[in-house]
Amino acid sequence: MIGRLNHVAIAVPDLEAASEQYRSALGAKVGAPQAEPDHGVTVVFIELPNTKIELLYPLGENSPIQGFLDKNPSGGIHHVCYEVEDIIAARDHLKDTGARVLGSGEPKIGAHGKPVLFLHPKDFNGCLVELEQV
Ligand code: CO
Repeated sequence: MIGRLNHVAIAVPDLEAASEQYRSALGAKVGAPQAEPDHGVTVVFIELPNTKIELLYPLGENSPIQGFLDKNPSGGIHHVCYEVEDIIAARDHLKDTGARVLGSGEPKIGAHGKPVLFLHPKDFNGCLVELEQV
């Protein structure tokens, strides 16, 4: 059912320093910071030949990233995002298997303007999973 790895998201304590490290030390193509107020994050997209990296930094009062950084002050992998063709069909199938969908259970529009859902990390070996319809 799942397709390509769309991105790996990394929460970072210093967005400018992390962007510069990916640009100069790793030689990656690093975009400009984008505020995503609906998701409580500022995101920097990094284009790799086969996937993307998203650097996440808290934005606003109730950012979902803040608690993660409080527990992981030097940052860490926050989630992985897999592509699906039909997000509703994927959601319904996953619910049938016992997986829990976070939030209302309805897809939201994600950072790339496409519908996304998140699956409970406790159901996926401790890894928060994002599904994105492509
Ligand atoms: Co994501």
